[in-house]
Amino acid sequence: MLDLVDTLKLRFEEALKSAYGNGSDSYEVAISPASNPQFGDYQTNLALTLSKQLKQPPRAIAEAVIGKVDLKDICEKPEIAGPGFINLKVATSYWEEKINAIKSDPRLGIAKAKHPRKVIVELSSPNMAKEMHVGHVRTTIIGDCLARVYEFAGHDVTRLNHVGDWGTQFGMLVAYLREVCPDALTKPDAISLGDLVSFYRQAKKRFDADAEFQNISRQEVVKLQGGDPDTLRAWKYLLEQSRHEAQIVYDLLDVHNLIERGESFYNEQLPEVVRDLQKAGLCVEDQGAKCVFLEGYKNEQGGPLPLIIQKSDGGYNYATSDLAALRYRVTVERAEEILYVVAADQADHLGPVYQVARRAGWVPDNVRIEHVQFGVVQGEDGKKLKTRAGETIRLKDLLQEGMDRARAELESRLAQEGRTESEEYKQQMARAIGIGAVKYFDLSLNRITNYVFNFDKMLSLSGNTAPYMMYAYVRIRGIERKGEIDFSKLPASAKVILGEPVELDLAKQLLAFDEMIETVTRDLLPNRICEYLFELSQKFNQFYEKAQVLSAPEPVRTSRLILCHLTAEAIKTGLSLLGISVLEKM
Ligand code: ARG
Repeated sequence: MLDLVDTLKLRFEEALKSAYGNGSDSYEVAISPASNPQFGDYQTNLALTLSKQLKQPPRAIAEAVIGKVDLKDICEKPEIAGPGFINLKVATSYWEEKINAIKSDPRLGIAKAKHPRKVIVELSSPNMAKEMHVGHVRTTIIGDCLARVYEFAGHDVTRLNHVGDWGTQFGMLVAYLREVCPDALTKPDAISLGDLVSFYRQAKKRFDADAEFQNISRQEVVKLQGGDPDTLRAWKYLLEQSRHEAQIVYDLLDVHNLIERGESFYNEQLPEVVRDLQKAGLCVEDQGAKCVFLEGYKNEQGGPLPLIIQKSDGGYNYATSDLAALRYRVTVERAEEILYVVAADQADHLGPVYQVARRAGWVPDNVRIEHVQFGVVQGEDGKKLKTRAGETIRLKDLLQEGMDRARAELESRLAQEGRTESEEYKQQMARAIGIGAVKYFDLSLNRITNYVFNFDKMLSLSGNTAPYMMYAYVRIRGIERKGEIDFSKLPASAKVILGEPVELDLAKQLLAFDEMIETVTRDLLPNRICEYLFELSQKFNQFYEKAQVLSAPEPVRTSRLILCHLTAEAIKTGLSLLGISVLEKM
């Protein structure tokens, strides 16, 4: 209820002015949610914080302000508590009016941003020399979720896939490709390498064992950078293979509109980036290398730390391509907000890049740049998740396992219930539940922390999980079926009446959707969505337990049906922000 908070603020500021004239000028009233629902809905500590300035005891200020403030249309009479807190209980009629205003709006009354911002979400960004591994699940899922929330809020979102498609590994891979699979260069369509993981591994083995091969690989890097057509063709072929594998994962994860713009895209801009930094007077030569000395960073000996932007041999670094990317995003693409959804262990890489870009004057002050960090996915042993044989787990295999497990559980449930369902239904279910479970689990935890990957927990039907939330939705749709009602066709003249505390609680939670969206765009924490949804489902359960729905007399029955309908819409919308679709039955 963001507009409610704003209105309360305004009314109190007016009251302060009329009680104290200019003595309270430029004071911004803070309205916060009540610490305990017993005291009402909101509270303000304005009397306590103004006491010194106004040279009066807080309770006296609180009384004076309450005498002036006009809240008749919103609240019951404000109460003073403790040393001078003002507690506010919003009138039921106010909640009724608000809930009735949104009763047929699937956006839960949330308007699109009046001033849409241009937002770039950088996500996924695997190294294309290798296949995507489980580490990339987090950036892809978290990034897509944030992109969805920004889109929902009405912003102009670009999802950028900053793939690693340049650099020395490609010299090695091209050299190896020429050796073992020369046909790939002449008949590229005929040959599929499929699994780049094992191809990469074999190439690396060859590279580590043979100095001559290392030489050839280095020459290939030079040829690649020089634009040699043969090498470029081999490089493109490898990228195509990798892209094909990645697309399987993106399709499974239901991630769309990813724009691939990898490191190679910025290659031509690198000399210019260095020149720009020289012009800005930031670039220093140090042992033949060009670098920028960082502020607030120290090397291991406690001395100044340089960010190398061009090596003494003329080559560029990872940081240089990131500087070019940031410069391009701000100056050419005019991004106003850039979210880098990148593992926490790259903080020491991105922090310096942001700093240098700002010092170079590329980034206007009002442009928001955030490193949206996340922790590691661990196995039961607490170490980075690996296969039994100690190899990295492929994302594709992991998602497949999620679907297989969801399928097995479904089959046994169907058998128990004596139901038969079509193969198509089972496949659709297994996919929605299996993938949804992996996504929800990841997004429901604070992204900063590491987590232990556990299918049993993800697929559990109880607790804050995808199956639980999907099931909550199905149950509500079940009420609709049982009552032979169509929620979307409830009479427009019907009104919600909040007679019982459980109804009021549910309505308040429904009306808090906008606050949830705002917190997510502010803190960039998808787990706030899951918390909201879980709380909503609990409030709904309490409501459904205490209040009759189908057997209630009119007009209460229809009023309660509207609450059911709104709850189903809120769950559906909330899950869609997580990239999870609901099922109509389970
Ligand atoms: N390609 C990198 C990796 O897989 C991630 C890229 C992160 N983004 C960036 N702008 N540096 O580790």
